[in-house]
Amino acid sequence: MSTEVKLPLEEEQPLALRTPRADEAGVGEVAAEQTHGPRRILVLGATSGIAEACIRLWANRGDALYLVARNEDKLAVVAADARTRGASHIGSAVANLDDTNAHPEVLAHAINSLGGLDVAFLALGVLGEQPEAEKNFAAADQILHTNFVAPVSLLTWLANYAAQRHAGTLAVLSSVAGERGRKSNYVYGSSKAGLTAFVDGLRNRIDRDGVRVMTIKPGPVKTAMTEGMKGSGKFADVEAVAASLVKAIDRGDDVVYVPGIWRVIMAVIRAIPERVFKKMNL
Ligand SMILES: NC(=O)c1ccc[n+]([C@@H]2O[C@H](COP(=O)([O-])OP(=O)(O)OC[C@H]3O[C@@H](n4cnc5c(N)ncnc54)[C@H](OP(=O)(O)O)[C@@H]3O)[C@@H](O)[C@H]2O)c1
Repeated sequence: MSTEVKLPLEEEQPLALRTPRADEAGVGEVAAEQTHGPRRILVLGATSGIAEACIRLWANRGDALYLVARNEDKLAVVAADARTRGASHIGSAVANLDDTNAHPEVLAHAINSLGGLDVAFLALGVLGEQPEAEKNFAAADQILHTNFVAPVSLLTWLANYAAQRHAGTLAVLSSVAGERGRKSNYVYGSSKAGLTAFVDGLRNRIDRDGVRVMTIKPGPVKTAMTEGMKGSGKFADVEAVAASLVKAIDRGDDVVYVPGIWRVIMAVIRAIPERVFKKMNL
């Protein structure tokens, strides 16, 4: 798959990662800045409902943002709103993140624009059509590619960048759906199960290098992804979810269930014996 990546002209810079400017923080200072100062945050999938709500909070407190999304018009609206709220820097790129070949270029450009990286927030994802994916491998492949293969490509590059610098937080939106295959959405669930295992393993590899790697598992949240679903009126409010996530990312928690009650719910769901579970309509 190949698509054009559109990077804004005013930010054209060499794509090779440059060395930090003399006035940019060193390794120890970056760690201090993560808890105290404005942060340099890269958002991949910046038009996601959950990401947009986080971006509003980060912009309100003056963080520096680099936003990547595939829809140029939606991205322009999110970027303009963040600028109005007081983000200290806004950079952006239009990119279909399914195109893994473009990832090094997009990521290098983002980091050059931000002058470093404190947080990378991966929010891209598709729910897909489970009934279609049951019949048609191409539909299943698309879900697995966007939710698993593309994030693995992004995280491989970002993890090596962050580990070399002994700094940074990689915060990844997986899902509670990855904790147990259910008949109603096991294709999406398996993409998230793969992502969770990858992110968990990555954390075990690079935590000792000073990089925080976060597995975020939301329960159902009211966003475009869940619009019109049965029971969606009772799903979690996206602003409340974002407020919890922004705090958790500041702390660099390992595994985050949001809302927190989903840690308990999933413990119960995982404990149901398979002979019972396979007869349930979940
Ligand atoms: N909402 C929930 O209940 C829930 C629960 C658990 C986990 N999650 C996860 O949380 C993340 C954010 O979801 P959300 O609820 O905020 O849903 P959303 O509003 O539908 O956001 C998904 C985002 O992913 C973007 N995207 C999809 N494929 C892409 C691609 N190839 N390149 C670039 N961007 C791409 C979409 O772009 P477009 O705007 O252009 O379509 C959209 O901005 C997803 O990973 C989702 O699986 C959501």
